[in-house]
Amino acid sequence: MQAPPEVLRLLQNLLEHAYAPYSGYPVAAVVRSSRGNLYGGVNVENAAYPLSRCAEQAAVLQMVSAGEREIAEVWVLSRGEAPATPCGGCRQVLSEFAPPWAPVHCLSTGGGELHTTLGQLLPHAFSRNHLR
Ligand code: THU
Repeated sequence: MQAPPEVLRLLQNLLEHAYAPYSGYPVAAVVRSSRGNLYGGVNVENAAYPLSRCAEQAAVLQMVSAGEREIAEVWVLSRGEAPATPCGGCRQVLSEFAPPWAPVHCLSTGGGELHTTLGQLLPHAFSRNHLR
């Protein structure tokens, strides 16, 4: 299953902007909002390692900063064969703004693909409903 051409182009351009001097593992992410807009992000690492940010979180920050709060679909692009899947923290951050049925497409430059949903990646997510 291919990503839409504009999404693929955006992911490929973003991957060039990833700042990953410590891990050497660039990642790009794109979220499509419920209004159909695309927001991209890359991983931005830091010499103080724990302050590094993942690509998915950078994309979510862009979307929310633009005034949107509903993720309809997620794409992730990484290098190599096995596509990166969102880390546990990113799954939680995505779940703040995406329903469990939101498709998550993980692609690699080597041609690997994993197509799943946020609910499959993070079952029984902690959410604002628990706080009521
Ligand atoms: N990383 C992401 O940005 N997204 C993922 O889906 C997996 C991992 C980043 C974090 C770190 O900068 C590098 O990849 C290696 O873990």
